[in-house]
Amino acid sequence: MKRLAIDGGERAVPAGSVRPWPPIDQTDRDAVLSVFDQKIVCGSGAPQCVGLQNDWAQYIGRKYCLATNSGTAALHMALAAAGVGPGDEVIVPAYTFLASASCVLHANAIPIFVDIDARTYNMDPARIEEKITERTKAIIPVHLHGLPADLDEIQATAAKHNLVVIEDACQAHGAEYKGQKVGSFGEFSAFSLNSSKNLCGGEGGFFMTDDERFLTRGEMLRMFGDEVDDETKLRVYNASILGFMYRTQELPAAFARSQLKRLDANNALRQENARFLDSLLAEFPWVTTPFVPPDRTHVYWMYVVRFDPQKAGVNLSPREFRIALEKALHMEGIATGQWQTMPVPAQDLFQTKMGYGTKGCPWTCHFYGRDVTYRGSDYPVASQLCEDYTVIAGIHPPNGRGLMEMYAEAIRKVFNNLDVVAKHKDDKIVAHYSGSMFMAA
Ligand SMILES: Cc1ncc(COP(=O)(O)O)c(C=O)c1O
Repeated sequence: MKRLAIDGGERAVPAGSVRPWPPIDQTDRDAVLSVFDQKIVCGSGAPQCVGLQNDWAQYIGRKYCLATNSGTAALHMALAAAGVGPGDEVIVPAYTFLASASCVLHANAIPIFVDIDARTYNMDPARIEEKITERTKAIIPVHLHGLPADLDEIQATAAKHNLVVIEDACQAHGAEYKGQKVGSFGEFSAFSLNSSKNLCGGEGGFFMTDDERFLTRGEMLRMFGDEVDDETKLRVYNASILGFMYRTQELPAAFARSQLKRLDANNALRQENARFLDSLLAEFPWVTTPFVPPDRTHVYWMYVVRFDPQKAGVNLSPREFRIALEKALHMEGIATGQWQTMPVPAQDLFQTKMGYGTKGCPWTCHFYGRDVTYRGSDYPVASQLCEDYTVIAGIHPPNGRGLMEMYAEAIRKVFNNLDVVAKHKDDKIVAHYSGSMFMAA
């Protein structure tokens, strides 16, 4: 057996082997450059923006789509269009990206967290009902890491309590639940086009709905709350509601439109890479690989694994074991490390409850009139996940079998030498994957 890189051996994955996401080809360059020839660079009715909205609506199988400048903007617009505001509560999973919950604060409402399912890491549908109060207005299921949430159960609970469902599909472009694309289930859905996402526009997002009234409201919310004249379609510069500046631009829209043509092929390669790692990691019964229920597909925005020191026979805590393994894998050249490090309600924002201003808004809003306490320990499943999970990054295209085989060599080297891994557990190494992997600074 070769010497581990952390122990002075040669790394299994040479520097430069992990190629960045997304692959960009001549068709992308041509698409972006063509924007300069069309001589329109922005606007809600601009050709690339409208074309992208139409292409995406058709891809998802949903009536209406508005392109936005981020996924966070799309979520905020959905809450505002649904009429969620002061005094309202919105149910959000305890483990997700902050924006799934901060959008609720932006709407002046209060996020109420639900723990996740231990196998899918998505919101546990069995725990939603106990969190519903007379204030609850909406549920935001997140299709985490690219795996659809339990939509049937969530929609049934929402229907029973007359709640709006806003799908946070920011990580799950093209994933299917019972043969239907996510983003087409709730009254609203939101996608992100951030550079790391399966569909990349640099930055950007989509607000989606099937309801024409919500579309009209969304259009106004995206553009300062401005009215547009019914006949001339011209802006009248008279805001009738409070809106935002959430429009996107032609350059990223043209880029995303071009990338969309390869979304399915790119997702297929992610799935192939994930299958390769699944079968490799099956050699190690102390490793948990992503669970995919048979009624849905996973598009692997992230490939997440968990380590169990007890099953591995290693006398370290789950956290120590995970960090030790991350260090050894990192030294072998695998892009690895954690993404979120704590349940969202454990973040300082929820501990201090200082949303905006200096008076604790929106929690102190007199329309709310209730005290809510956020404790990470109230979400034991999410908390446990944060102890023992890591991301094996780099499974995105154009990386394929070649890189996965190098990863396999690195993984076997490290996982078959746990005594060496444990010996280096306190080495000063910070395992991470940098933003530059996703063409971000
Ligand atoms: C689950 C989830 N929701 C919302 C967002 C926000 O998207 P954006 O960064 O485009 O605002 C993200 C982005 O990472 C996300 O992962």
